[in-house]
Amino acid sequence: MTISREDSARIYSTLDKSGVFSGGSQNDFHDAGENQLAILTHFGLTASSMVLDIGCGCLRGGRWLIPYLNSDCYFGVEPNVEMLEIGKKIVIDSKILQDKKPKFNTNSDFEFDVFGTTFDYFIARSIWTHASKKQIEKMLDQFVRHSSPSARFLTSYMRPRIPFLDGYKGESWVGKSHESDQPGIARHSLRWIEKACLNRGLKVSSIDEPKLNYGAQIWLLIERTQEDTDL
Ligand SMILES: C[S@@+](CC[C@H](N)C(=O)[O-])C[C@H]1O[C@@H](n2cnc3c(N)ncnc32)[C@H](O)[C@@H]1O
Repeated sequence: MTISREDSARIYSTLDKSGVFSGGSQNDFHDAGENQLAILTHFGLTASSMVLDIGCGCLRGGRWLIPYLNSDCYFGVEPNVEMLEIGKKIVIDSKILQDKKPKFNTNSDFEFDVFGTTFDYFIARSIWTHASKKQIEKMLDQFVRHSSPSARFLTSYMRPRIPFLDGYKGESWVGKSHESDQPGIARHSLRWIEKACLNRGLKVSSIDEPKLNYGAQIWLLIERTQEDTDL
């Protein structure tokens, strides 16, 4: 499936006029969306995979994922109801919405049991770059509870500017959300993320190949350790 840059430019401009922040520039709207499908397929996504898109926003990634996946396979959580509704109207073709039947939930507590299913892939693009450590730990706990044994969690992050520090220490979300229109970034060290994963029987790999990443954020791949998969 291809989505043209012209289409992306047209949709971006309509979003912009509606006052919806899509997460960056017109190029970001196309490229950061396409990159989400690319990173998932690189790590084995197929049309029948069950995917949870955490903080799906106005569906910048969803517009690539929903058409690619079989119907009833895409699930998005987004507490900014207005942004999500505009995304559903402007960003995704109504015929695709009807055929693919994506499911959405607007909770802001990182509760993923709301869909009553388990997922093969979790994706969180530009989420850990705003989330607190407590929120990241909650996402990891929910991944362990609501994913299939060989599930994969792809999440983007940004390292602290000072390498030996663990980064953001606050308890709340930093940046734009359903509650704030102030921009901001939260950074977390790979060392802290590794520890949080290890405590839950998970391992994390940093995807350091430039061609798989987009912009300043680096993808992390999180999976169960072998022993936990065998249980
Ligand atoms: C920078 S945007 C990224 C959106 C999308 N993942 C993308 O790549 O286009 C961050 C998103 O996280 C959402 N968000 C904020 N707080 C959240 C929460 N507690 N749970 C889930 N999503 C949240 C914001 O409303 C926003 O849509």
